[in-house]
Amino acid sequence: MNKTTAAITGIFAWAPDNVVTNFDLEKVMDTNDEWITTRTGIKERRWMVEPGSATSDIGVEAVNGLMKKTGLKPEEIELLICCTATPDMAFPATANIITDKIGAKNAAGYDISAACSGFLFGVTTGAKFIEAGMYKKVVIVGADKMTSILDIEDRATSIIFGDGGGAVLLEPNHDGLGVIDSIMHSDGAGRHFLHQKAGGSAKPASIETVTNKEHYVYQEGKTVFKFAVTNMANTAAEIMERNHLVADDIAWLVPHQANKRIIDATRERMGLDEAKTMVNIQRYGNTTNGTIPLCLHEWESQLKKGDNIIWAAFGGGFTWGALYLKWAYDPK
Ligand code: UT7
Repeated sequence: MNKTTAAITGIFAWAPDNVVTNFDLEKVMDTNDEWITTRTGIKERRWMVEPGSATSDIGVEAVNGLMKKTGLKPEEIELLICCTATPDMAFPATANIITDKIGAKNAAGYDISAACSGFLFGVTTGAKFIEAGMYKKVVIVGADKMTSILDIEDRATSIIFGDGGGAVLLEPNHDGLGVIDSIMHSDGAGRHFLHQKAGGSAKPASIETVTNKEHYVYQEGKTVFKFAVTNMANTAAEIMERNHLVADDIAWLVPHQANKRIIDATRERMGLDEAKTMVNIQRYGNTTNGTIPLCLHEWESQLKKGDNIIWAAFGGGFTWGALYLKWAYDPK
């Protein structure tokens, strides 16, 4: 029997209905559609406004959709990993809340925290359990309710982020399809440029931290941009080189959607056409762990068995990486 690889055998993604356009933001802060569009590529994003809604609700929508599409039953899920930067609470893991809400009674669950690279790190991790023969049905969720940590009045961050996510099913494959290679990097020195100042053990929540708005995303955009543009492009090029792939071999690039200019730089470094690059940042903004599954879901009907697909991501931490997979099924 051939080597066991972990193939994506189903994908579903979900974002809330509530659309917030650049023109909506113009009315409440000192910004404008032209600035946001030229600097980021974003035209609108989805913000979750239902009181009491949480990241686990995005995960539940995603996994329920995935189960409906694939016929997967909740009790068949052996492992559910939730990749998120906005967990429902510090503990327990959002994965545990999702498994409870969907009735996945036999699943082990835990979260992965790697900011915008989380979904790539999570699929890499889930694939290892399959390759090792420990599990046969692994669900990886990438979901974020970014508005839960956004200062809506801060034009430097609020224009960028949106809410949403998705889920994939990983199963064993013996035909050489699925996750072939992945590269993960981190550099903790980057934490100073993108983080949440308070609410963790280093600075627990207090009246002072709330008053100072320290529970919101803090980002030094220009510095993060510099690191993102270099590292995302370098890692995508590295995974091509070490797998002896040239641009013509690649069917699709699935880049984390943080900024259209970062996506373009990565694509150009790889020598790819725009037509081979999944871009939906204009409609969703940066949904952190949600960007890659939202793209895969949207393009699923165009993906063919055997397609070489490269993912590339960069996020807070800093964390970054690339993943090479061979798509495992034709459009259904
Ligand atoms: O996904 C996780 C990783 N995150 C990223 O990859 C994000 C990387 N960074 C970026 O995408 C960009 O740095 C941003 C989109 C966040 C900002 O774009 P920028 O081109 O780096 O702009 P900037 O922060 O240097 O600001 C340029 C100017 C400033 O005015 P002055 O000082 O030149 O007068 C800002 O005050 O634009 C001003 N500005 C705005 N103007 C209108 C900043 N935000 C806004 C805004 N609307 N929303």
